[in-house]
Amino acid sequence: MSGRPVPSRRTLLCSAAAVSVTALGAAACGPGGESGVAAAPTAPVDLGAESDVARGSIKLYREHNVVVGRAEDGSLKAFSTVCTHAGCAIDRLEEKNRLVCPCHGSEFDARTGEVLHAPATQPLEQLSVGARDGRIVAGPGA
Ligand code: FES
Repeated sequence: MSGRPVPSRRTLLCSAAAVSVTALGAAACGPGGESGVAAAPTAPVDLGAESDVARGSIKLYREHNVVVGRAEDGSLKAFSTVCTHAGCAIDRLEEKNRLVCPCHGSEFDARTGEVLHAPATQPLEQLSVGARDGRIVAGPGA
């Protein structure tokens, strides 16, 4: 005997399975947070100065999983950027107002929330949004 406990075959198999599950989760939904699934705001969130979103522009707030667009008439629209396919956090806003999910490539129109490219089939969740005291506030109850 060496004096060291020898792991059983069952212990070794369970450890290997745990590593494999962790690796798969990370590969499937990497930037979605520790659990792999991102979360939209559950309460009003102060996103910053109203002047950050000029007329006719769009801003992605990655840290809050929100995108805000301002139309030419000055009205605001906001959507959750939690992908409706499997819950990853959308982290790219590209040309022509396309939001691109890093996990499986779904694309959404940042102005309307509509799906532009599968595998997602459902539009992004629209959020309440408004301006208070020169700040943009979005989320339920905003
Ligand atoms: S989570 Fe699958 S495409 Fe976004």
